[in-house]
Amino acid sequence: MLLPLLLLLHGVTRLVSSTKFDDTSLLTLPRQAFRAPFNGSAEPFTLAGKSMYFIVLDRFARSGAQAEDYTYCSKPADWTNNTGGGYCGGTIAGISSKLDYIQGMGFDCIWITPPVDSNGYMGYDAINLFKINPHFGTKEDLKQLSKSLHDRGMCLVLDIVLNHMRSLKVNGKLNLSSIVPFDKPEYYHQRGRRPDQSFEEYLLKGPPPAFDGSTDSKNLATLVKEGKASCGPTVPEQTECACLPGNTGPSCPSYNPQQQVEGWFGSLGDLNHSHPFVREQMLNWVVGLVADYDLDALRLDTAIYVDPTFVSEVQQAVGIEILGEATVSNLTYQANLMRNAKGERVLTGLLNFPPFYQVPSAFCGYILESEFANYSTQGSWKSKADMTGLAQVMKAQLDSDRYESLDLLGNFVDNHDEYGRIAHYCQSDAGRIKNALTWLMLAQGIPIVYYGTEQGLSGHQWHGPGNPGQDGLRESLWQSRFRTDTWQYLFIAALNRVRRDYKIGAGSSEVKFFSSESLIFTRASHAGKHEAWVFLNNAANSTATSTFRYCPGPLPGIDGQAWFDVISGNRMDQRLSKGCFLAPDAEPKVLVLQVDNVLIE
Ligand SMILES: *[C@@H]1O[C@H](CO)[C@@H](O)[C@H](O)[C@H]1NC(C)=O
Ligand SMILES: *[C@@H]1O[C@H](CO)[C@@H](O)[C@H](O)[C@H]1NC(C)=O
Ligand SMILES: *[C@@H]1O[C@H](CO)[C@@H](O)[C@H](O)[C@H]1NC(C)=O
Ligand SMILES: *[C@@H]1O[C@H](CO)[C@@H](O)[C@H](O)[C@H]1NC(C)=O
Ligand SMILES: *[C@@H]1O[C@H](CO)[C@@H](O)[C@H](O)[C@H]1NC(C)=O
Ligand SMILES: *[C@@H]1O[C@H](CO)[C@@H](O)[C@H](O)[C@H]1NC(C)=O
Repeated sequence: MLLPLLLLLHGVTRLVSSTKFDDTSLLTLPRQAFRAPFNGSAEPFTLAGKSMYFIVLDRFARSGAQAEDYTYCSKPADWTNNTGGGYCGGTIAGISSKLDYIQGMGFDCIWITPPVDSNGYMGYDAINLFKINPHFGTKEDLKQLSKSLHDRGMCLVLDIVLNHMRSLKVNGKLNLSSIVPFDKPEYYHQRGRRPDQSFEEYLLKGPPPAFDGSTDSKNLATLVKEGKASCGPTVPEQTECACLPGNTGPSCPSYNPQQQVEGWFGSLGDLNHSHPFVREQMLNWVVGLVADYDLDALRLDTAIYVDPTFVSEVQQAVGIEILGEATVSNLTYQANLMRNAKGERVLTGLLNFPPFYQVPSAFCGYILESEFANYSTQGSWKSKADMTGLAQVMKAQLDSDRYESLDLLGNFVDNHDEYGRIAHYCQSDAGRIKNALTWLMLAQGIPIVYYGTEQGLSGHQWHGPGNPGQDGLRESLWQSRFRTDTWQYLFIAALNRVRRDYKIGAGSSEVKFFSSESLIFTRASHAGKHEAWVFLNNAANSTATSTFRYCPGPLPGIDGQAWFDVISGNRMDQRLSKGCFLAPDAEPKVLVLQVDNVLIE
């Protein structure tokens, strides 16, 4: 997602789809319909069970003559006149040169921001779909990255945008020149354009926004105060007390599914997928990308703003999994994005926004003070953190039978768009950050770590005028010199090792207990044969001597088996009593049953 102010888009699309699928869903399609596995395994490739590292291409690693230039950079693009820019010098070859660094943390996959030729450094505003951004490198560089990853048994997830191209308004004028292949007004949505208006007038006046939930959100707040509406984590259809896309009805009456699809993000050229040329070119482009670069999966930007029938069509055509960006809080609506109310397949996977919206307040007491996506005020701290919202959303998802796959929800605790980075919103409290990262790495779904988490980047340094807003979240990484001895790097590596060693990947989960201070859940371990117990808390500034009592805990092992905390490697049986677990400190704990610290098969 790209534009600062407009993320608030919403509207609820009920995915009115006319696409006819034959009954075979993607997950049950014959094996050869999916990407051939690269590692000789008999199973088709899936993101389920993988862990992922998310990279902003321009900000991760420089290469060539600049490889040793470690000067900090966090330039903004020009969001006013839309001349783009903001490039700091990261490249595709730079990523290839740092695969040891990434694999050293134990990740299976990387997700990179769009490498296609674009106006700004983030890549979400394409100029030429069929070209690689010269700032980032060449087609050969991208093929090489893909090959290098596969040679290591790793995978590549590429970010694509179907919804829009670059801004059509450049320096205050309509500018369609050099946009490939969509260089005519007819390719773009013209919702609400008056017959006497030229396309340029329509554009300059400002096309209707894809979503604006601000009035509805205020209305909802009033209704809640009057006891006429309910919202919050206990309400699966309105897990936030704000109108996000997917919230409709009397509390969020502005719902307009058609405007969600046909409305614009500012002046970013909003493609009309009902136009046969647009549909055909887009399909060819995506299918070509997958083949040319041997991609393992895709991440789809602004997925809920694209005609859902087209999204389904793309999902069917690519033959690999797609994780869609869906900034939603309504769990029914979210689940319908995987399989809609008519039982039709839409996207295989989704970024998991509903729990993400709870994480900053759960672990660190951080709440947004203004509307979603108002980056001028990112939030403030309450005196107490509160785990209940996160636990309730997690439980509602786990208890729901609507999701096609909980293993294909991509979890995250921060990203390139919203809130602050975890180091910022947790005020560098290492204990709390470790607890939040343990939630991320062990909750059911695909854990996605945002680059720089391992170096404690705060996302709030700024070397220019004004508030860093979103651009601050995308600062360079190289000034860290890619150290592999930070506590964050080592901790993430330890958690990925736990996932791997105890086979905690895809598979079930159960919330056992939660309170404002703690959260206890289990995961299928040893590929479903055993259970791992995860104990988390949000104690502030905890010290090595702060013990923490959790109830329930597992019963002590019998027959020579014992529970070990697999993060520290320490035996914990002696700390289990009366169905509770007295943890020796407030660091997160993951208990697995073993014999003498050896796997039980
Ligand atoms: C936008 O263009 C105007 C007029 O050309 C100029 O004065 C202004 O500095 C530009 N703003 C940015 C952010 O480039
Ligand atoms: C249109 O925008 C492109 C950048 O995408 C720029 O190179 C070109 O000069 C602009 N054309 C005009 C007439 O401003
Ligand atoms: C989208 O394109 C189709 C086909 O060209 C056209 O009939 C329709 O009016 C367009 N929709 C909008 C909102 O511009
Ligand atoms: C949540 O989404 C579902 C499915 O789109 C919809 O029927 C329901 O009205 C939504 N709930 C709220 C509170 O908006
Ligand atoms: C963002 O929030 C701040 C503080 O509530 C407010 O002053 C400002 O007007 C908001 N900006 C936008 C674009 O809504
Ligand atoms: C943690 O300690 C720091 C430094 O003493 C303090 O500023 C901060 O408020 C503490 N955090 C909480 C949540 O108590």
